[in-house]
Amino acid sequence: MTSTLITGIAELVTNDPSLGDGSSLGMLHTAALVLDGERVAWAGRAADAPSADLRVDVEGRAVVPGFVDSHTHMVFAGERSAEFAARMAGEPYTGGGIMTTVAATRAASTDELRFGAARRLAEMRSSGTTTVEAKSGYALTVDGERRLLEVSRESTDETTFLGAHVVPAEYAADRDAYLALVCGEMLEACAAHARWIDVFCDKGAFSGEETRRVLAAGVAAGLLPRLHGNQLEHGPGATIAAEFGAASVDHCTHLRAEDVAALRDAGVVATLLPGADFSTRSPYPDARALIDAGVTVALATDCNPGSSYVTSMPLCVALAVREMRMTPAEALWSATAGGARALRRDDVGRLAAGASADFAVLQAPSHVHLAYRPGSRVVASTWKSGGRIAG
Ligand code: NIG
Ligand code: FE
Repeated sequence: MTSTLITGIAELVTNDPSLGDGSSLGMLHTAALVLDGERVAWAGRAADAPSADLRVDVEGRAVVPGFVDSHTHMVFAGERSAEFAARMAGEPYTGGGIMTTVAATRAASTDELRFGAARRLAEMRSSGTTTVEAKSGYALTVDGERRLLEVSRESTDETTFLGAHVVPAEYAADRDAYLALVCGEMLEACAAHARWIDVFCDKGAFSGEETRRVLAAGVAAGLLPRLHGNQLEHGPGATIAAEFGAASVDHCTHLRAEDVAALRDAGVVATLLPGADFSTRSPYPDARALIDAGVTVALATDCNPGSSYVTSMPLCVALAVREMRMTPAEALWSATAGGARALRRDDVGRLAAGASADFAVLQAPSHVHLAYRPGSRVVASTWKSGGRIAG
């Protein structure tokens, strides 16, 4: 196997507290990395670096773990810019536009879905993302949901069955029949193509009781639970996530103190989606209350055509710092190691011996530039499994 020495690193964020400055970021200055095939073989001070077959000099740039975008709906057809414009003119976000995307997605060819997803994945990669989760939920039929998961699997193993996104119009008069379909035939068709089960537990989507029913069926079929919860109003999402030992509850815009305590006690990650709060002009979640209480916080894009047509993790970091009062270090940790925890992965989100060689080289000497230079091209190149995938 070929080994590569990455040198000239002004600042290396490892997310391994045993390396470097002792902080959660495990930060080293004047550092080097050695890659062996797809893995990191060594991380440390440049002066101590072992020799390698090849050498890449990043000339004084910062290197950070690749972003782990643990919440996206990246496979869909169509777009909803008119809905966004109406919102910016004062309309509220209700999730009602989901059916517009369902209609476009049902009508699209598989290649159309594939090309759209590939374009978004390319954007994600060029802004430093190396691991991405992708949900179904824009077909809401047995074959359509399976098709979305099959297309998602072409990009990632982190696929999530979200048949319980909303009740489609044709079942409006019989919710129970739709729930029976999701928990029966649809789950059966989708389970082999998914790792996770998700439910949109919120106003206008699914109630607490319905959410429990779908999660229980998913878990019985071998899927791992995660949830959309507490986005539009305070509801039972966080409580149910804790009850099911879910990996993560996502959005968390409306939480109460008892929800925060339940997430902490159950070890559920709170995944915050600042792109959605931005694009729906909603309040931002109270990240400080979560972090100060000891809850693990992740940041993700929620990339979807309705509430957050965002592919950039650096933008999410910048919003989390400016609008949610996270420090630049906390936001970077949440966008990398936090995302890995939300996906129950320990091979990504860190740069230490044995981890996947997934990282972003910044066009900057420090990770702070991710928040300090919003909207600029701060990521110079992206590497995944030891190879350059963008930049
Ligand atoms: O995460 N909240 C539910 N689902 C998506 C939005 C989907 C849409 O509006 O198309 C979300 O925000
Ligand atoms: Fe979402």
